[in-house]
Amino acid sequence: MKNIIDIVEKHYDSIVSLRRHFHMYPELSAQEFNTQQKIIEELSALGLTPRKIAGTGVIAELKGALPGKTIAIRADIDALELQDECGKPYQSQNPGVCHACGHDGHTAMLIGVAKTLVELKDNVAGTIIFLFQPSEECFPGGAALMIKEGALTGVDAVIGTHLWQSLSVGTSGISYNRMMASPDSFTITIKGRGGHGSMPHQTIDAILVAAQVVTALHTIVSRNIDPLEQAVLSIGSFKSGDTFNIIPDTATLVGTVRSFSMDIKKIVFERMEKIVSGICQAAGATFHIDKTFGFPPVINNPQIAEVFAAASMETLGKENTLTIDPVMGGEDFSVYLDQVPGAFIFIGTGNKDKGIIYPQHHPKFDIDEKALGYGIETMARAAMKLSSSKENF
Ligand code: NI
Repeated sequence: MKNIIDIVEKHYDSIVSLRRHFHMYPELSAQEFNTQQKIIEELSALGLTPRKIAGTGVIAELKGALPGKTIAIRADIDALELQDECGKPYQSQNPGVCHACGHDGHTAMLIGVAKTLVELKDNVAGTIIFLFQPSEECFPGGAALMIKEGALTGVDAVIGTHLWQSLSVGTSGISYNRMMASPDSFTITIKGRGGHGSMPHQTIDAILVAAQVVTALHTIVSRNIDPLEQAVLSIGSFKSGDTFNIIPDTATLVGTVRSFSMDIKKIVFERMEKIVSGICQAAGATFHIDKTFGFPPVINNPQIAEVFAAASMETLGKENTLTIDPVMGGEDFSVYLDQVPGAFIFIGTGNKDKGIIYPQHHPKFDIDEKALGYGIETMARAAMKLSSSKENF
């Protein structure tokens, strides 16, 4: 059997070029038309038969020579609404659009995995499905549409990666259960009675009511959630009033809730309702709460995570395959995990020596491209292990 490292090495430069191409020409969620076209060209050149799915997504399959399971590998392909300030020759040519989350690398890596596994076809068991998913950055996300259009038909397990800035290049991070949180958001509108700042007794001060609500909401995580559970409630916007001598009648609070289970989510939102209701009632104000429930949490299947970690250990070494705590960010990879077992892994891209220090979604975000090779190798190894596995997931 040909050596995976040699194959990845052979294709490395072309994958870096592809990543830079996607970085130069980023496209927003559900508008990834040129990206889709480029993926189709690349996969077709490998002798695969890619087809369009979920609008601007692509699906392709590779049948191995040996009998085995069907394993899907997913990459998200969309960019962010952000001005690129990476300052590199491959800086975004599309004003206000930037691959600041690393999805350019995800797309290039999955093409790299396809190139690698096509060469190893005689040793590949089962079927490998390549899922290039649009609209990860934009709720409700492209995963649901991919699934609706058959992306997981016959699939036994699904794997995916995210390039991860806070991990150094040459390392990976995985959790054997909870990996990423469920991100929800809320808007609380409080209605009081406006009036002159010199006559507060004639008003119901929406600012004061909302200020009490902000303080009280912060007791939910500290006082109502089991300290061994994980939850976050943050308020990112507080808007009310325009000028110094008018007590405004309305205040609006916008925030996010992050959690890992429906039970915790339920407690947070039930308490929110009670707290806002109680404070508003006491003040004589009224309120309205708008909730938007985001993606479910990313919960790795422990058995598949073990296989993924083993693939990473073969690629990066045991000491560089880190067991990490879950992160409170969200990902619509979870939508696949709701349907079939699977696992998600972070591939480190940070490199202080090269000045690659800016976090994901920052205008100066960039990756150490060495990570692309590590990601390809890890995914290719994991897919081969899983498709030839005799275990029941
Ligand atoms: Ni992302």
